[in-house]
Amino acid sequence: MTVQYQVRDGVAVITLDHPPVNGLGLGIRIGVAERLSQALDDAAVKAIVLAGAGRAFSGGADIREFGTPGALQEPSLHTVITSIEAAAKPVVAAVHSVAMGGGLELALGCHYRVAARGTQIALPEVNLGLLPGAGGTQRLPRAIGLEAALNMIVSGRTLKAEALAGTRLFDEIVEGDVLEAAVGLARRVANQAGAHPRVRDLKVEHENAEAYLGFARTTVAANAGPFPAPARCVDAVAASLKTFEQGIEAEREGFDYLLGTPESRALRHAFLGERAASKIPDVSADTPARPVAKVAIIGAGTMGGGIVMNFLNAGIPVTLLEMKADALERGVATIRRNYENSAKKGKLTQQEGDARMGLLSTTLSYHDIRDADLVIEAVFEEIGVKETVFRTLDEVMKPGAILASNTSTLDVNRIASFTKRPQDVVGMHFFSPANVMRLLEVVRGEHTAGDVLATVMQLAKKIRKVAVVSGVCDGFIGNRMLEQYSRQAGFLLDEGALPAQVDRAIEKFGFAMGPFRMIDMAGNDIAWAIRKRRAIEQPEFNYSKSGDLLCEMGRFGQKAGAGWYDYKPGDRKAYPSKLVNDMIVQHSKDLGIERRQISDEEIVGRLVYALVNEGAVILEEGIASKASDIDMVYLNGYGFPKFRGGPMLYADQVGLFNVAQAIRRYARGYQGHAWRIAPSLQKLAEAGRGFNE
Ligand code: 3HC
Ligand code: NAI
Repeated sequence: MTVQYQVRDGVAVITLDHPPVNGLGLGIRIGVAERLSQALDDAAVKAIVLAGAGRAFSGGADIREFGTPGALQEPSLHTVITSIEAAAKPVVAAVHSVAMGGGLELALGCHYRVAARGTQIALPEVNLGLLPGAGGTQRLPRAIGLEAALNMIVSGRTLKAEALAGTRLFDEIVEGDVLEAAVGLARRVANQAGAHPRVRDLKVEHENAEAYLGFARTTVAANAGPFPAPARCVDAVAASLKTFEQGIEAEREGFDYLLGTPESRALRHAFLGERAASKIPDVSADTPARPVAKVAIIGAGTMGGGIVMNFLNAGIPVTLLEMKADALERGVATIRRNYENSAKKGKLTQQEGDARMGLLSTTLSYHDIRDADLVIEAVFEEIGVKETVFRTLDEVMKPGAILASNTSTLDVNRIASFTKRPQDVVGMHFFSPANVMRLLEVVRGEHTAGDVLATVMQLAKKIRKVAVVSGVCDGFIGNRMLEQYSRQAGFLLDEGALPAQVDRAIEKFGFAMGPFRMIDMAGNDIAWAIRKRRAIEQPEFNYSKSGDLLCEMGRFGQKAGAGWYDYKPGDRKAYPSKLVNDMIVQHSKDLGIERRQISDEEIVGRLVYALVNEGAVILEEGIASKASDIDMVYLNGYGFPKFRGGPMLYADQVGLFNVAQAIRRYARGYQGHAWRIAPSLQKLAEAGRGFNE
């Protein structure tokens, strides 16, 4: 059922009933239009109430429908709203929980609106690279004023209904049963003489609209970055000063334009991809999760401390276990300092910080963590140390406890084999700084139980992470792809580029940080150790030697005051280094390579397609279950530009035919053996398809 209909003593109640959030797809639009006609045709009906079943009045247009034929089919949302507004009988919206986007626009088309206190109100289309396309840019300024509406529309911010009390948006804001209140209002206005109020008939008042809009345009231009939607939102809201029809036309034009932009496609992909990531193909959505009320973290170092904060922030008590008292003290002091800094910046009150610290207890004994529901290990990255920890956990932890490792490079199956309960073992790979970075790779071992995965995915939402499931392999999804990207960055140096050029090109593409600045921050010595290990395990997997030469010069990165770049004390800025650049040029000479001018386009192509090609292999191997999971990893953990939607969507937008052609070209060049085109990429390219289609 998508729309329910019930007549209560002369009042027809039309209820949107389309879980999860009453998205306004074609079926529900048809349902509302039909029920409205039915109510208008029924002489016994004097007034109409429009309500939403379940957890929302409506979350807006159905985001999944965009770009499909259904989106273009009548009745459009605009048509439905126009019919409601033109109805001869009064229509009252009963708004509860969530009224967003098209949902709020639908309410604005009703003659009266009653809201439950606490209802989340927003026109968040801008977050999807769009503008409100069903009259919101015209009716909201008429209901709450030009400035307030513009702020809401450009920011997409959510307000509680009561924050909008006193405006024309709500006739009543009620504590109790909103449906009863709406039916009551409908009865009172049913026999009122004259036309019922329409928001479209209100005038947008502003003392100095032109100056204000000029200011808004400048602010938006300075803050929107590569996104076109915010400026288009201002244009559409500005049109609300004209006639209603002219305004609607301007809005329609802006909406249609934005819907076709790659930026909007990228943002919609990110919205749906984040939610799709929690769905695991062979773990059904109704798998019961294990309760997690108490968490233990082992290791109070860089990662352990950050991981602890995630749980404290979500109100979940944590016991932190360390090997030595001084390491424990240092770890706790860092956590406390982080909260104090947040309090100084006004992000948190002192009291809130104290309350969070109050949820933390510490210990040096496993005895104190034995009844935790989840334990996450973040000790040194050495298999021997992990073995000791997991054997101990197997002995002491209560049955059913989830045993997680934050390992970034070790084999989770091997770690699981140290226990007699491999079904309870899982990887939880957080990213540094763990209290800030949104990504969590959930590493699924060969024996990891479905309910363990379901529990961790649910918990991830609670601690506000974007969790993506990865199979077990070297580097999991993110670092495995990054390795191919870094390899190409090195080969580019051998051929003619310098670190600053490579970084500049990829940063211009939109990456937060280029590969050389990034590795200087993470530490060149760590990558060096990995390369040394690889040289033994997979000798065919070669790298540019320039990275080793750099490390031999002792230039480990920012922490050493020198890496690919020079650094000055107290200054994180990267200064190109003559010494390093000379080393790179000399190295090319030693290899007998005549250095050439390399275009930014080639740099971007080689780095990004290296990610894409490895991503395709990862999909073939089932390490990731869908292309959007790979994109979520790169958007949330690796600074891939949000407006491009992740490497796999970017490749789709470029066209896989073009990507495959470029890869074949690179394969004929220097170190071309590093390019083995993924069969699935080749196949999709030949079929004219994309990863996300
Ligand atoms: N269309 C389709 N599905 C939607 C949806 C929408 N507008 N909004 C949410 N959903 C789905 C989600 O995909 C998710 O599906 P799943 O259970 O299958 O994974 C489910 O609803 C629950 O979503 P959340 O996990 O986000 O649940 P929360 O309770 O945390 O949040 C929410 C609920 C506040 C409604 C949040 O989902 C949200 O912000 N939604 C987006 C709202 C939005 O952007 N609306 C504008 C749409 S564009 C529009 O209206 C155009 C118009 O102007 C013409
Ligand atoms: P770290 O060296 O900062 O901290 C490790 C902590 O574990 C130390 O405080 C140490 O005293 C403690 N410890 C060691 N053995 C212990 C034992 N047997 N029992 C209890 N405590 C013990 O290391 P870091 O960087 O926090 O890394 C921890 C884990 O997280 C590693 O597996 C690492 O691969 C992984 N990781 C690290 C990332 C990073 O950027 N640093 C990113 C993602 C994962």
